[in-house]
Amino acid sequence: MNQLLKVKNLRTSFYDGDLKMEAVRGIDLSVQKGEILGIVGESGSGKSVMVKSILGMIPNNAKLDSGEIKLDGKRIDNLSKKEQRVIRGRDIAMIFQDPMTALNPLKKAGDHLIVVLMRVRGMKKKEAKLEAIELMRQVGIPSPEKRVDQYPHEFSGGMRQRVLIAMALACKPKLLIADEPTTALDVTIQAQILELLKKLQKENDMSVVFITHDLGVVATICSRIVVMYAGMVMEEGLANEIFYSPKHPYTKALLNSIPSVDGEKTRLKPIKGSAPSLRKQAKGCPFADRCEWAMDKCFSEVPEYTSFSSTQKCMCFLAEEGGKLDD
Ligand SMILES: Nc1ncnc2c1ncn2[C@@H]1O[C@H](COP(=O)(O)OP(=O)(O)OP(=O)(O)O)[C@@H](O)[C@H]1O
Ligand SMILES: [Mg+2]
Repeated sequence: MNQLLKVKNLRTSFYDGDLKMEAVRGIDLSVQKGEILGIVGESGSGKSVMVKSILGMIPNNAKLDSGEIKLDGKRIDNLSKKEQRVIRGRDIAMIFQDPMTALNPLKKAGDHLIVVLMRVRGMKKKEAKLEAIELMRQVGIPSPEKRVDQYPHEFSGGMRQRVLIAMALACKPKLLIADEPTTALDVTIQAQILELLKKLQKENDMSVVFITHDLGVVATICSRIVVMYAGMVMEEGLANEIFYSPKHPYTKALLNSIPSVDGEKTRLKPIKGSAPSLRKQAKGCPFADRCEWAMDKCFSEVPEYTSFSSTQKCMCFLAEEGGKLDD
């Protein structure tokens, strides 16, 4: 089988005294070998908590209530903290949103890479420095021989993000998880970073999970997309299915909120209402109070998934009734 990561019924809650707040509510997810999977949802939908749960990196006030996580067919959710750290260093690498806070300002850019290469790949310092220069070249940092000895503040935001990507690649991971790696960057640099990730995914034969709140961003690089809301998967499908035949009202609303230029006019329709709070969770479909098609039962029951193809499914009562969601 070509599956690299398989997650079943993942549930993660935060605790405030006796109050339990469910941030991830029964997620099933799979990542195939060699694919770029996009995870999309508004701020607060649980994207980061979900990947941190997979990596065993949730904070102390959170708990994994349930879930089975398999990497290459082997369970990783029941490993010790130490064993999980080994997996994070070797098999799964992660890049975060803010490249400045992830780099130590007192350490040269190259030293960040050298430390990883010595620790994970057992290299000697001299060899590690040469490899660090090579990695910097691979991620498109100009004059890497010079840059390797410069400090993070001497790099632009886009170049710092490239250093982080090089650090992730240094481990030769099977899976790279990129959590909003481009949001802090301007649009042109964002596009360059996306192109880079796509190129590196092919060259290094790894899988990538790309997280963003912007459906427009994933259109150019992802083959498959998972749409999350309130800690649940609302819809998933191939990129084509999500963009050309979206089924869930939330997916449609997200698509409508992408700024797109129609002739001279720019269309942009923000989604009405706000993302749900963890403290007041609705009983039925979490999107019901913002959904223009909501029916009575949407407020009291959670819908099952309906499949539209072997790759596309969505969680909506209207979808169960067939056809009505096709505009
Ligand atoms: N350490 C924490 N303690 C309590 N609640 C938290 C904590 N971290 C996250 N949450 C809550 O969990 C929910 C999911 O947060 P998460 O960070 O996963 O969202 P996200 O989809 O990654 O959003 P964004 O696009 O803003 O990064 C939110 O309601 C958030 O307030
Ligand atoms: Mg996040």
